[in-house]
Amino acid sequence: MPDQQDTTDTRLAPLREDIRFLGDCLGTILTEQGGAGLFAIEEELRRGFKALRADPEDRALGARLERTVADLDTETAAGVLRAFTLYFQLVNLAEQHQRIRRLNAREDRPGEDPAPGSLAAVVARFAARGVPASAIRDLLEQLEIEPVLTAHPTEALRRTVLEHVGHLADLLERREAHPPGSPARRRAEADIAAIIEGLWQTDEVHQRAPTVQDEVRNGLFHIEGVLFDAVPELLQGLEDILARHYPGEAFPVPAFLRMGTWIGGDRDGNPNVTPEATWQALLAGHRGMLQRHMAAADALSADLSQSTNWIRIPEELQEALAVDARLWPERAAEAHDRNPLEPYRQRLAIIRHRLLAMRAAWCDSWQDAERMPASRAGYASAADLLQDLDVLDRSLRSHRSTRVADGPLRTWRRQVASFGFHGARMDLRQHAGNHQRALDTVLGRLGLDVRAWDAGAREAWLEGELTNRRPLVARDLAPYDASTRETLDTFRMVAAARRVFGPEALGSFVLSMTTSPADVLTALLLLREGGVLQWAEDGACVSTMPVVPLFETIADLAEAPGIMRRLFAMPAYRAHLRALGDVQEVMLGYSDSNKDGGIMTSSWALYRAQQELLEVSGEAGIRLKLFHGRGGSVGRGGGPSHLAILAQPPGTVGGRLKLTEQGEVIGHKYGRGPLARRSLELVTSAVLESSLLPGAEASENPEWPRIAADLSERAHIAYRTLVHDHPAFADFLGRATPLDLLGGLRLGSRPARRQAGSDIGALRAIPWVFAWTQNRMILPGWLGLGTALSGWRKAQGPDATERLRQMARDFPFFRTLLSNVEMTLAKADMAIASRYVAGLVGSVPDLVVLWQGIEAEYRLTVAEVLLVLNQTELLEQAPTLRRSIAARNPYVDPLNHLQIALLARWRACGEATPPPALLDALKLSVSGIAAGLRNTG
Ligand code: PGA
Repeated sequence: MPDQQDTTDTRLAPLREDIRFLGDCLGTILTEQGGAGLFAIEEELRRGFKALRADPEDRALGARLERTVADLDTETAAGVLRAFTLYFQLVNLAEQHQRIRRLNAREDRPGEDPAPGSLAAVVARFAARGVPASAIRDLLEQLEIEPVLTAHPTEALRRTVLEHVGHLADLLERREAHPPGSPARRRAEADIAAIIEGLWQTDEVHQRAPTVQDEVRNGLFHIEGVLFDAVPELLQGLEDILARHYPGEAFPVPAFLRMGTWIGGDRDGNPNVTPEATWQALLAGHRGMLQRHMAAADALSADLSQSTNWIRIPEELQEALAVDARLWPERAAEAHDRNPLEPYRQRLAIIRHRLLAMRAAWCDSWQDAERMPASRAGYASAADLLQDLDVLDRSLRSHRSTRVADGPLRTWRRQVASFGFHGARMDLRQHAGNHQRALDTVLGRLGLDVRAWDAGAREAWLEGELTNRRPLVARDLAPYDASTRETLDTFRMVAAARRVFGPEALGSFVLSMTTSPADVLTALLLLREGGVLQWAEDGACVSTMPVVPLFETIADLAEAPGIMRRLFAMPAYRAHLRALGDVQEVMLGYSDSNKDGGIMTSSWALYRAQQELLEVSGEAGIRLKLFHGRGGSVGRGGGPSHLAILAQPPGTVGGRLKLTEQGEVIGHKYGRGPLARRSLELVTSAVLESSLLPGAEASENPEWPRIAADLSERAHIAYRTLVHDHPAFADFLGRATPLDLLGGLRLGSRPARRQAGSDIGALRAIPWVFAWTQNRMILPGWLGLGTALSGWRKAQGPDATERLRQMARDFPFFRTLLSNVEMTLAKADMAIASRYVAGLVGSVPDLVVLWQGIEAEYRLTVAEVLLVLNQTELLEQAPTLRRSIAARNPYVDPLNHLQIALLARWRACGEATPPPALLDALKLSVSGIAAGLRNTG
């Protein structure tokens, strides 16, 4: 399989060479393993679809290719699918390698041509615009950036396959380090071929659903294996850049990057995330971190052989050694005997001993936590360890060992400050309705008939009850039903986890589908029942954790400011916030609001909600922390994070940002050190920039918010009319997409739907976007905007287009929205989509008309977007992406055609059980298309 890349750009030469090499390897293995026949069919399809892309009007060729595909037996079809899927994995790998190559090249030439979005670029802009050093220092002090890894089921490939591909990435680097023809290069090439051969014989897709523990392991691989090293590097990088641009100024860069995780904590719609599973996830995180800290202690001990023959250590360290000798006499004596004149090694031996001792308190089950004595030797908190390391730091500096202090010791101190003993801080998430049901059951057993209460009565009762000391829940949970027991146990487990692992191991409790203040109060009441929320005699709140409403429908986003205002006015709620430092975290759901109202409406509703939430919290004297629940694809709020942050309403970032990172995005962004550094850099630089050099505000031109609101309303009507009100739409979705397949893909530990049912409301946002991505319509990324733009333009005067153009140029919100929609329109392909309709929907008149409407709306959207962007072609300003999409398309086409043919065969089985090989081939088509589009959905 030869090179698919454009040959115009010489910087791409190494990429082309990699793709050619990997493609040749694959071609050889395909012939050896699958036989010349399979290779010939694969080549016929590849050449044919390429020719068809070049001349889409060649109907005879199109018909011939379709016949060839339809005639393939399942086994051959599976072979072809595997060949293309593997090919895309190799191309993706080569593109990733190219990205790393370019990042490294830039790093080798600091100062010149800083990459867009880099820290160097933003700090240079600060210096050029005269931003004072003190303003940067103030910002650094309050800076908080928290990417949160989730186990959202959007990674189509198995961990095993990803690991093989990761190994290939190492080998590509090795190959490149040696000249062509050299023995070392030949060895690397042979190893690469061996892995591709192995991959050919490996199952690409899951034969069983991953368990929560599998997902936890996957997350830990990124935290312990990549981010633990990447985060301190980024902090150091920022410090160096600031020093370069502000000579003579000191910038102590604190540990502002904290990783979060939902893996093992997100129980919304996932019955497998039990209290035990969460406990095991916490335990695994702590164990992994301990290993890394002990390894750091060992490495430092190997370095710090300074002897008292040559140095004098300050009193502070001498005292610490004396305390060690008193508290741990045997250990201290042992360490002293081993390294009699080497105080650092003696001290590090005790530090290591104390780290190891922490394990004693970590029981296997949360229910045992009560009985476990606290470990006396172990560190009570990461802050204690940090204090010990600070003593070493001061001591080293006192005898001018600054290089060591600034080198490995500083890295470790940063790791301790950033990751503590927990690694990633775990959030919990549950659907608000689940808590309400559990509380109603508890109250029902107490004889309270809460069904008679209206919303106001419920809210008032909850508010009053919150500070009450009388428990509502029986100590023994046996009388409650299983679901209530599990909910109540979750809160008890949280209390146990805070006791055993420390409060910093847990982040927030997120409430999906929050619709009222009562949802938040209910969760707080259950936290009180679990023993987490506690009041002092004087009414002060002495223990609590953040309860975070997640607003994720258009209506709830509009209600959000009012809901928060009511909560802020409640004294008990305010007291709980005071205990949290007067910070309110609010989560915004991008995917579900998009599915509910379409991209234009959801984007504007999110923007407005943020502005108003900022106002409401400002009035109440509370700092707002926004948590952005974005997916990977545009239809789920994705798109480049850097631009997204710069397009947030001014003032809403203010140095604080929490955002989700999920599914296949985690591997893309954090799979390797240089990629992780770059991803963190892009987010950090955007937060710095939007905090100190905010972009244009909507109110800067009073017309913009009016236009956006008008567009949003128009788009909403267009979207709802089709998606929610059209009686045949659900039927169309079921037929024209592979939605029925997705549940069986076993992509994650959670089921595809929250509850049974076939309505669009019950469908989760991930399979919704996933399904539309596979058939190339990608509706969630554009539907509604075309009608809105054209309707608005027609309703306005002749200058309408110019006004929209100005808004697209100067209003970051609109610019980013259009750029994301433009990218989706370019990835969507109505010619392929029409094959899905022809092959799978049939000629049901209603559905055909519906499809014609979608096609027309797509054409309209492209025309309108091009008009507003003043372009003649999509992605005119993003040639690399345009080339990449164009180069991939002819290879994705056969996968789409095969999927259509196989789906038709599968559905024709009706009630009969389809052959397992058919289902396997279909699954392969899904992961192949996902790999080809570099996006599951
Ligand atoms: P959720 O995620 O269904 O878990 O809320 C939605 C998404 O990320 O798209």
